[in-house]
Amino acid sequence: MSKLVESPAWHALKFHHAAIETIHMRQMFQGDPMRFDKFSLKLGNLLFDYSKNRINDQTVKLLIDLAEQARVPVWIERMFNGEKINSTEQRAALHTALRNRSDRPVLLDGKDVMPDVRRVLGLMRSFSDAVRNGKYLGHTGMPITDIVNIGIGGSDLGPLMVCEALKPHASQNLRAHFVSNIDGTHLTETLKKLDAATTLFIVSSKTFTTQETLTNASSARAWLVEKLDAKTDDEQAVAKHFAAISTNLAATSKFGINPHNVFEFWDWVGGRYSLWSAIGLPIALYVGMDIFEELLDGGYAMDEHFRSAPLDMNIPVLMGLLGIWYGNFFGAGANAVFPYDQYLYRFPAYLQQLEMESNGKRVDRDGNPVDYDTGMSVWGEPGTNGQHAFYQLIHQGTRMIPADFLAPLHSHNPLGEHHAILLANCYAQTEALMLGKTIEEARAELEAQGLHGEALEALLPHKVFPGNKPTNTLIFDKLDPHTLGMLIALYEHKVFVQSVVWNINPFDQWGVELGKQLAGNILPELRDVTFTSRHDASTNGLVDYYQKHR
Ligand code: F6P
Repeated sequence: MSKLVESPAWHALKFHHAAIETIHMRQMFQGDPMRFDKFSLKLGNLLFDYSKNRINDQTVKLLIDLAEQARVPVWIERMFNGEKINSTEQRAALHTALRNRSDRPVLLDGKDVMPDVRRVLGLMRSFSDAVRNGKYLGHTGMPITDIVNIGIGGSDLGPLMVCEALKPHASQNLRAHFVSNIDGTHLTETLKKLDAATTLFIVSSKTFTTQETLTNASSARAWLVEKLDAKTDDEQAVAKHFAAISTNLAATSKFGINPHNVFEFWDWVGGRYSLWSAIGLPIALYVGMDIFEELLDGGYAMDEHFRSAPLDMNIPVLMGLLGIWYGNFFGAGANAVFPYDQYLYRFPAYLQQLEMESNGKRVDRDGNPVDYDTGMSVWGEPGTNGQHAFYQLIHQGTRMIPADFLAPLHSHNPLGEHHAILLANCYAQTEALMLGKTIEEARAELEAQGLHGEALEALLPHKVFPGNKPTNTLIFDKLDPHTLGMLIALYEHKVFVQSVVWNINPFDQWGVELGKQLAGNILPELRDVTFTSRHDASTNGLVDYYQKHR
């Protein structure tokens, strides 16, 4: 057995779990009128209510013991101080330096990274200002009206999610589009709406080797050159209509991107943590650099909290530990996220990469297979859509699915009673998940509806809700850039806390890199009919089928 599973803190939690498993949250709330005050925290305008969890004082104490045993505070400092905690790639994980709004230096191998960070922020400002105010002109002398980000994974999901979330701040003169999928449909459908003369492509790729991104970028370049009829001076057209964001400057120059339009970031920024870097350029273009910097301010505010708050008052620490409580002790395999704010509709998709790519690991930092569960699957949809689709399984299914509910007090779009109804739904769901409906309550309800006898008895079991389903609720004033920055950094740190307890490296992604390799093996076999496939029978059969029916 691993050290973690044999550790005193783990044992104590196992023992405690056996005792608390049978206690219903109804009883917990009835027994403690101060439960909300005790189990909620405020940071700026963010309220974190974790009282609807299957915990008591002792649970929190034992979870904090687990965090201390794992030396979470030491690891937090290691990360902020630029230690190479991404051990399999020998890299630091310094995304926090990108939003370091203090004048504190951040040292990496003895060198302060902050001058470079500030230099690139300055370049982003001048470029985005020039595009937004119409001074940056395309090949035919027209200002830019549409930007198209071409990237995938962290080079797509973060900027896309933030652009959607901050839409109320967007320029009326600039539209943002995102192309990620290698499926030609994605690029084709996007290009249909565009005028090449007023379109700027931003090729976003940390490595600048990702097949999907480079293929989409090459096709976009061919489209641009054809549309502008610029074959004779296509280099000039590409120079005006393409920008790139990458750590691989040699590759961006090989692609033919004007060095003035290349924005650099560094290998110490993980792809899924990169929206704070130049990868955020589409955000700066869409909403302006001032708003982008407010997003950074929000991330920084959460960083300061994470670094300085005691563990039992530390929101990312508590969220991370609650996830471990359900994942490792109650056997939960999924974590749902429900933003009751339409602008956050891509937040669950963004969190999927953040959490699942980071903590989907089967060996510990020393390479030993773990004998405990690690990352959970993450999914969700904006409220109230999810309610009319899959909440049924959370209310009455057999599995425990802890859920986070996020909602603003104020809407950007006050419209009659809409926002009050939205919020009422959000609160009602967390209440119903916690309380459930007892058999007595269900019976009384059916009787009040005039049902009796056999008909009532037949329907009764279907009307019972066990409740006792855990939720966190995050309430904020309004979805502004600062709040969004706080929320993103909160989840980043939650994921980190869990990785520390599980003793895994959250900053590599060897599993997804395998996919790139495997597709590379099959592609020549699809291209060439004479190629003999050398895979398993199923894969050979599928390759042959394509060859016969193409
Ligand atoms: O899918 C694996 C991955 O490496 C992600 O981690 C990353 O965000 C994505 O590919 C895109 O990589 P790049 O920015 O290098 O194109």
